[in-house]
Amino acid sequence: MRQVIAGNWKMQGRLADISAYAADLKAATPSAMLLVCPPFLLVDRFAAALLGSAVALGGQDCHWAAQGAHTGDISAPMLAEAGASHVILGHSERRADHAESNAIVRAKAQAAIAAGLTAIICVGETEAERDAGEAADIVKTQLRHSLPDGFAGLIAYEPVWAIGTGRTPGTEEIATMHATIRAAVVAQLGESGRALPILYGGSVKPDNAAAILVLPEVGGALVGGASLKAADFLAIAACARHD
Ligand code: PGA
Repeated sequence: MRQVIAGNWKMQGRLADISAYAADLKAATPSAMLLVCPPFLLVDRFAAALLGSAVALGGQDCHWAAQGAHTGDISAPMLAEAGASHVILGHSERRADHAESNAIVRAKAQAAIAAGLTAIICVGETEAERDAGEAADIVKTQLRHSLPDGFAGLIAYEPVWAIGTGRTPGTEEIATMHATIRAAVVAQLGESGRALPILYGGSVKPDNAAAILVLPEVGGALVGGASLKAADFLAIAACARHD
């Protein structure tokens, strides 16, 4: 299966950044699947700039309702209409900033699927949870309560303490957690759980990407800061494993 290299721009990037970035991605021929998740307002402009390329677009969140009185929110059908095929859900910044529970993430994933979007559900422990030896249990609980029945999207394992810090778990720790996640999703979803790509996220950079992407059960990377520059994002994609 092709690895997925997903860029999460977060609340960064302006209209003026799009055309050069999109041109660089269009000119590249990585073996990995590329996915860019810009702020909502840039999705349709990005879709126009990427027209004719295989680069996919995603949102960074969506509401659990298809429409309604939810001031300031964006629905999954709106994202799809703007040109997104994917949506990141349950990112730790949303879980923390917006008090998103596993139940909310699950409802959002159901809304995304109903709109034809592929959801990327994020899980990951805090540093305190890791220090307390609870990382695997926390992640398994998040999976159990965030994944809808029959889920067929992607999972991103993002240790909260590794996001934006320049710190990453050791490669053995990443491999162990990805194996734990694989076992949990197979127990939860049955055989179909074997096919779910499990991305690693948290301070993935051009200089550590190869060591991470080569690990078993790592289906790609969710990249924040290093996705903002096309050259860095493509350097990470160039490290993707060819299976
Ligand atoms: P980072 O962010 O690569 O800047 O650590 C990853 C993420 O939050 O998805």
